[in-house]
Amino acid sequence: MAIKHFLQFKDFSRSELDYVFERTAWIKNQFKSYQKYWPLEDRTLVMIFEKASTRTRLSFEAGMHQLGGAAIYLNTRDSQLGRGEPVEDAAQVISRMSDIVMIRTFEQEIIERFAANSRVPVINGLTNEYHPCQILADIYTYIEHRGSIQGKTVAWVGDANNMCNTWLQAAEVLDFKVHVSTPPGYELQPDLIAGVTAAHYEIFADPMDACRGADLVNTDVWTSMGFEAENEVRLKAFADWCVDGDMMRVADPQALFMHCLPAHRGEEVTAEVIDGPQSVVWDEAENRLHVQKALMEYLLLGRIQG
Ligand code: CP
Ligand code: NVA
Repeated sequence: MAIKHFLQFKDFSRSELDYVFERTAWIKNQFKSYQKYWPLEDRTLVMIFEKASTRTRLSFEAGMHQLGGAAIYLNTRDSQLGRGEPVEDAAQVISRMSDIVMIRTFEQEIIERFAANSRVPVINGLTNEYHPCQILADIYTYIEHRGSIQGKTVAWVGDANNMCNTWLQAAEVLDFKVHVSTPPGYELQPDLIAGVTAAHYEIFADPMDACRGADLVNTDVWTSMGFEAENEVRLKAFADWCVDGDMMRVADPQALFMHCLPAHRGEEVTAEVIDGPQSVVWDEAENRLHVQKALMEYLLLGRIQG
């Protein structure tokens, strides 16, 4: 049987996503009520980090532990990955000693090459191009608060980065719409959103117009990891793309605010918004833990009967 990976959001069908969200609710509830659930006892997750992380590392490591398994942390600095061992060789070796692998790296191509040489499922824990685990958590959080996301409108204000590309892929699979507003020079790259049809996104020059009537307003840092050299230029270019109270007021009165974190108050979002009543950023962060447990269960065990 072909190994199933989660390298881009569009790797999963709508039915698979619905199943993962259903399992997330069950797994979260079991954990919250102190019911031990150890389907991955004796299994090992290897986590490879070529970039910094707080939430991704914590949620995968704690999540694997909560499912009865173990997690091993590798980074570029302390492993042979940083000394030029080919990614194909690393994949062969790591996947013979573990049951599932999560990678946070730079180019998407690196994780695709790893997966092509892996005997076990590989999960994208963020690349320059995509962040599918975060969007899983964000959509699950939306469902918890507001129900199905189908037919809803998500406003994306800021950089057309890994988060934005993944939101668009999700819109195509789950049938909702993303209103995208980026500063000139930081627009969407068509090759990264290939397959996303016009019905599922719309581009707005003015971020206020993108937020008008939206059910969910979402932003992210102006400078993603790996792009630090552009920080000064970006600070100027993005100045009008700060999600503030005015943007939230033109959104739907029931609109939620999300941010994958870490956040910079006063840059991409005001403190009023991120610390305000429409913000669900802490639920969003916690749900990384629960959706990723459901994701690992699905990749390793398939659909659980009954
Ligand atoms: N949102 C997110 O992926 O956070 P970390 O960079 O802390 O893992
Ligand atoms: N777009 C951000 C997300 C961090 C979780 C980055 O890639 O740095």
